[in-house]
Amino acid sequence: MRITLKINLLTTAWMLLILILINIVVFILFMRTTLNMEEDMGFQKAGDIVKNIDINDTPESIQSKLKNNLTEHSYIRIVQPKGQIPYEVTNEKALAKKIKGKFVNKSESERRGIILEDKEKQVLIVRVPLKDGRFHNASLEIGEELEGLETRKDILLWILGVSTVLAGILSLLSGKWLSNIIMRPITNMINTMEDIERSGVPKKITIHNDTKDELQTLASTFNRMIDRLEENFEKQSQFVSDASHELKTPLTVIKSYANLLRRHGLEDKEMAEEAIQAIHSEATRIQKMTETFLDVASLEKEIELETSVVNLVSLCQSILKQMKQVYKREINLHYQESPILIMADELKIKQVIVILLDNAIKYSNGKIDVFLDKNEENAIIRVKDSGIGIPQEEIKNIFERFYRVDKARSRETGGSGLGLHIAKRIIKLHKGEIRINSKEGEGTEVELILSSRLEL
Ligand SMILES: Nc1ncnc2c1ncn2[C@@H]1O[C@H](COP(=O)(O)OP(=O)(O)OP(=O)(O)O)[C@@H](O)[C@H]1O
Ligand SMILES: [Mg+2]
Repeated sequence: MRITLKINLLTTAWMLLILILINIVVFILFMRTTLNMEEDMGFQKAGDIVKNIDINDTPESIQSKLKNNLTEHSYIRIVQPKGQIPYEVTNEKALAKKIKGKFVNKSESERRGIILEDKEKQVLIVRVPLKDGRFHNASLEIGEELEGLETRKDILLWILGVSTVLAGILSLLSGKWLSNIIMRPITNMINTMEDIERSGVPKKITIHNDTKDELQTLASTFNRMIDRLEENFEKQSQFVSDASHELKTPLTVIKSYANLLRRHGLEDKEMAEEAIQAIHSEATRIQKMTETFLDVASLEKEIELETSVVNLVSLCQSILKQMKQVYKREINLHYQESPILIMADELKIKQVIVILLDNAIKYSNGKIDVFLDKNEENAIIRVKDSGIGIPQEEIKNIFERFYRVDKARSRETGGSGLGLHIAKRIIKLHKGEIRINSKEGEGTEVELILSSRLEL
């Protein structure tokens, strides 16, 4: 069943149920009050008659006094203890015949349904004792058809019935209109999603009216999601094309040296050695590059960090020791206090420091300094070299994937332009900051700012 139909039927059924309940209550209240009023009027009339009957009244005057009080479809009688009826006046003989006289000591009223001329009629009977005056022991009985009540009841039932049916129809129509308003944007969304599923191309939902409601929020959230998907899609294909482009150069070198070897064999020993050397070094480059690619790919996924308390002083000491041994360069560590503790993923922070040192080593010849500092909020790591520096206008670009300032030189130094991109991603995951101060020809200082708060 369609959701519009469901909403429609449910609201209509619910409304009808409430209406019927209200109608029942209205009907019962109406009947109660009207009957009470009729009863009161009956007693009032009986009281008036009783007061009016006098000790000196002749039977004829009593008869005429009773007659004067007769209304349509009613009877008035005087009943004695044994049920004898000395006086009775009526304009509806059949009615008086149907109802037997009853003597009472206390006032009472009764409502009774009787069949008159094959029709059910409601009759109100009022009985009051007649103690004073002429009668020491008798009671007055008035019986009256509740004709007005019947007509009013019929009219009320008719009004209630018609208004319920009308309300039902109106509710069905307005429900249809309302569910259409709600469903239109949803149908729009379903169509767009089906389109995406069929074509495989991300597509946005057109928002026609600025309604600022939940449905618009749903549509804009969907559109933002599509935007992100598109962006990721773009990033991924850009990455694949950049990566294959990067791999092309070393592969071409390997292929041409391999061809050389195939053509000339191992006759020319010197040339063969050069070829093998080149193939080896290019293969190592590819290997390193693929490792970096994997790093980038995993960082793009915004992985979870494995954080623990890290002492930056001892971490830097161990990194520097290794780097000094491998590169035989002067690298100095400066710090005022120890330990300097931060909450971080140790392996990832180590990777960032290695990336920065690797750059300082590649792009300078002199000594390199690493400074560790700490204030209330942050821990700061600075890696400073006095190398070639980075032109001011290039600084904004060097965090881009595969971006290198001097492409030719980078080939010599073996860079792929991913180091700083990876470093920035890792620092971003740590909610830290990376800044670069550099002057062409004078040197570069890279600053890492990480929160020194140990609680999460
Ligand atoms: N300390 C530095 N001094 C001078 N230039 C630098 C320095 N660090 C980075 N650069 C410039 O920024 C570019 C990007 O650096 P990045 O570390 O991202 O790539 P890479 O060093 O070329 O390659 P990879 O680090 O992937 O091996 C470098 O190619 C270089 O031109
Ligand atoms: Mg680098």
